Amino acid sequence: MKENATEQFDILSNLASDFKKKRIIDLFKADPNRMDTFSIETAGLHLDASKQLLDNTVYAQLTKFAVKMGVPEAVENMFRGGIVNPTENRAALHVALRSSKPSDPWIPENIMSDVHNVLSKIENFVADVVSGRLKSSTGIPITDILMIGVGGSNLGPKLVCTALRENESTRLRIKFLDHLDGKGFDNLKHQLDPESTFCVIASKSFTTSETLQNAAIVEKWMDSSLKDNQRTKSQFIAITADKGKALSYGIPKDNIFRIWDWVGGRYSVWSAMGLPIALKFGFTAFKEFLAGAESMDDHFRSAPIERNMPIMLGMLGVWNVNFLGAHSYAAIPYEERLRELPSYLQQLEMESNGKRIDLNDTPIDYDSAPVTWGALGIDAQHSFSQLLHQGTRFIPVDFIISLTPPKKYMTNHDVLLANCMAQAKALMIGGNSGGTEANPHKEMTGNRPSSIISMEALDAKTLGALIALYEHKTYVQSVVWKINPFDQWGVNLGKEFAASIFADLSETSSTEEHDPSTEEQIKRYKNLRNNS
Ligand code: F6P
Repeated sequence: MKENATEQFDILSNLASDFKKKRIIDLFKADPNRMDTFSIETAGLHLDASKQLLDNTVYAQLTKFAVKMGVPEAVENMFRGGIVNPTENRAALHVALRSSKPSDPWIPENIMSDVHNVLSKIENFVADVVSGRLKSSTGIPITDILMIGVGGSNLGPKLVCTALRENESTRLRIKFLDHLDGKGFDNLKHQLDPESTFCVIASKSFTTSETLQNAAIVEKWMDSSLKDNQRTKSQFIAITADKGKALSYGIPKDNIFRIWDWVGGRYSVWSAMGLPIALKFGFTAFKEFLAGAESMDDHFRSAPIERNMPIMLGMLGVWNVNFLGAHSYAAIPYEERLRELPSYLQQLEMESNGKRIDLNDTPIDYDSAPVTWGALGIDAQHSFSQLLHQGTRFIPVDFIISLTPPKKYMTNHDVLLANCMAQAKALMIGGNSGGTEANPHKEMTGNRPSSIISMEALDAKTLGALIALYEHKTYVQSVVWKINPFDQWGVNLGKEFAASIFADLSETSSTEEHDPSTEEQIKRYKNLRNNS
């Protein structure tokens, strides 16, 4: 990183040691335009980064740093379908999934026509299900969709279905089965009728063991009621990039929704993986969700670098991590409907940028992704926020709020937002809790940075823009850190080990030798398992 932009890196390092001594509140006094400089509004979102520990000089250097690191070219390269995932020799064209442009000279025509074909398939499917034209194998209308998937094949649709749940336009119930212990399905099956439930195996690879194992228990449950596996399979749908595997599994050809290699799992909510969104809220709402993301794409691609929301968010993260020493950051939504957002961002940011080898195959000597964590605001205030205010760690925060209160609960929303704004203010200015009497235990030093991202309203469009914002922020940071954000080899090794350990846990055994600790774990489990 340093060798690409030595001058800016050194300037920023010097500025950082200076800034560790500055107070954010004093920076407001020094610059009457601070609020404007560090606020950007676009696509129904407003980013207020004025409570971050930086000033104009730092930001000017950060944007120069981004330029030197090649951010503008990298943005264009991604939109034009360049190979931005070199370890898998692939483009990452999630932006094509939400493009409404009749044609884009940079995107191969077959990709755009594939995207439109799948969108039409989703539209028709939704119309058939919602109108009741599509019946289950026993001839009754479909009442429930059971989505079986993990990671990127679960977190995005779950986030959106939870966030928009008040806007549902159909009676269809959507359930998610992700955890593997069987108890999750035990709870769900009491709410489901096998005769009127459609199951979606959501798996880009169609090889993920957790998903396939869950699909197997669901299939067995349906078989026992439908008494005919062909009937069961006619109520199964696959969303996958491997049509062949889905066909061999017995999914009917027409029930297979394609995604493609060039869509990363954690970037796939805009593809057929978003089917449950379209089923629950209608195809129009799904298109609005895509349109919201597209507005953010247009902004990302065209706004000047210093007024570019994803670039600002990304470069603030770089400043906090690489110059001010943050090891983590907290994402704290003050909106119950966004309860799934922290988990979604964890996969997006940590699976993308949690890496230590750069694009030249060399270990990096600087930090890449910080730990992303967080929880709903009110829960946070009564659990971990104490540490944010008075702990020894430096942890920047993103607060996410919606500015449209539910009509029924106006005052609740006032109290909610008062709490959020109070947290951001207290983190920044600090002070003495409970009065003026000096007491070190009650003292908050403040000067802890945060940003507030406000949504005009929490609807399909703005949610699309919010998710796209974080996707692009992640990409900007990957460019600066010189890493490939679109692979995840670190996850794969665990999958490989799991396969051999599973063989050792069941009656067969693998040829793989395990370390003594793992051997002991296997032995202890087998002893208890076989005696239970
Ligand atoms: O968590 C690892 C991962 O490989 C993710 O990247 C992906 O989203 C998830 O597994 C699920 O994979 P698949 O959609 O292939 O089942």
